[in-house]
Amino acid sequence: MQNKIEEIKNCALKEINEADNLKALEAVKNKYLSRNSEFNNLKKGMKDLEPSQKPIIGALLNSVSNELNSLIDEKNEVFYKKELNEKLLKEKIDVTLDGIYNPLGHIHPLTRTINELVEIFNFLGFSLAENKNSPEVEVEKYNFDMLNVPKEHPARDVQDTFYCKSAANVVLRSQTSNAQVRQMLASKPPIKIISPGRVYRNENISARKNNLFHQIEGLYIDKNVTMAQLKGVLNEFIRLYFGSSRPTRYRSSFFPFTEPSVEIDVQCIMCEGKGCSVCSGTGWLEILGAGMVDPNVLTDAGIDPNIYSGFAFGMGVERLAMLKYAIDDIRLFFNNDERFLKQF
Ligand code: DAH
Repeated sequence: MQNKIEEIKNCALKEINEADNLKALEAVKNKYLSRNSEFNNLKKGMKDLEPSQKPIIGALLNSVSNELNSLIDEKNEVFYKKELNEKLLKEKIDVTLDGIYNPLGHIHPLTRTINELVEIFNFLGFSLAENKNSPEVEVEKYNFDMLNVPKEHPARDVQDTFYCKSAANVVLRSQTSNAQVRQMLASKPPIKIISPGRVYRNENISARKNNLFHQIEGLYIDKNVTMAQLKGVLNEFIRLYFGSSRPTRYRSSFFPFTEPSVEIDVQCIMCEGKGCSVCSGTGWLEILGAGMVDPNVLTDAGIDPNIYSGFAFGMGVERLAMLKYAIDDIRLFFNNDERFLKQF
C-alpha cells in the first residue's frame, strides 16, 4: 500500500511539474485528487486494512493529498496571474483614442422660440388654449366672419388667402386669430389664453416672406380689462423676451377685430435706434399687433360687451426668432440645412 501511494505521488509530482498552463494543471488535479481518482480509491480501500495499519496509511494518504493540493494551488496561483496579465496586456484600451461620435438632434429654432414665448406668457398668467391646436384648415366663419372681417376685406382675396377648391368657404387659416373665436365659443370669461400655430398666406416667397409661418395669438377677457393692462402685459413680455433696456413704441393702427388697435414696435436690436437696413432706417421694428377686442366680436361669440371687455394680440414667431438670433432669411427655418439647425 505504501509503495502504491509513493508510486502515485511520484507520477502526480512529475505531471504537476510538467503542467505548463491552467488547463493542464486542472487536468492533473482531476486525475489525482477527484472522487474517482486512483488515490481516492486507495482511501476507500482503507477499511480492509489491519487496524494497526489504518492510522499510518491514513496519515500518509492525508499528507500526500495535502502536499499535492498545495503544490497545485501554488502553481495555479502563478499561472492565474500570468494568464491574467497576458489577457490584460492583449485587451488593453487606448484611452487616448477618439471616441465614437454620436451626434444628438437639436430643437428646431422655431420650436425653441415658441417654447420660450409660451413660457413667458405662462409666467404672465396666460395658459395654452384648451383647443390648443385650432384647425389649420378652417372655415371662413372662424378665420374671418366672426372676427368682424368684412366680406370685401382685401385679406380675404385669393391673392392673400388659400381657398379650398373642393369645399366652399374653407381656407387654410391666414391667422391664429381663429383660436380667439374658438376659445370664446368653448368657454366663458374670464379667458386668458395663448395659442401658437401655423398660418398660411399666398405670398411670393422671399427672404422676408414665406407662405407658411407661425403666429402666437393671445386673448384676455374679463370684467374691466383695460388698454392699460394691455400695455402692462405686452411691455412686460417684450422686457422678458428682448431684455429690460429695449424701449417700445405704440402706434395706432387698424384690425377689424379690435378697437382701438395698435401696432407695437421695439427699438431696433441691430442699430439701437440709429437706423439700419434691418429697420429700414427707422430705428424701430414692428413685432406685435394688438388691441381691445371689438364689441362686435364679443357679441357674435355670445359675450356681453356691456359686462366684459378684453384685449387680444398676435405676433409672428419667425420674426421674433429672426430678430433675437439675427437671422436674415426666413427660408432658413424651412430648408432643414444642418449647418443652420446645428447652431441652435
Ligand atoms: N391676426 C393679425 C395678423 O395676422 C395679428 C393680430 C393683430 C392679432 C391684432 C390680434 C390682434 O389678436 O388683436 O396680422
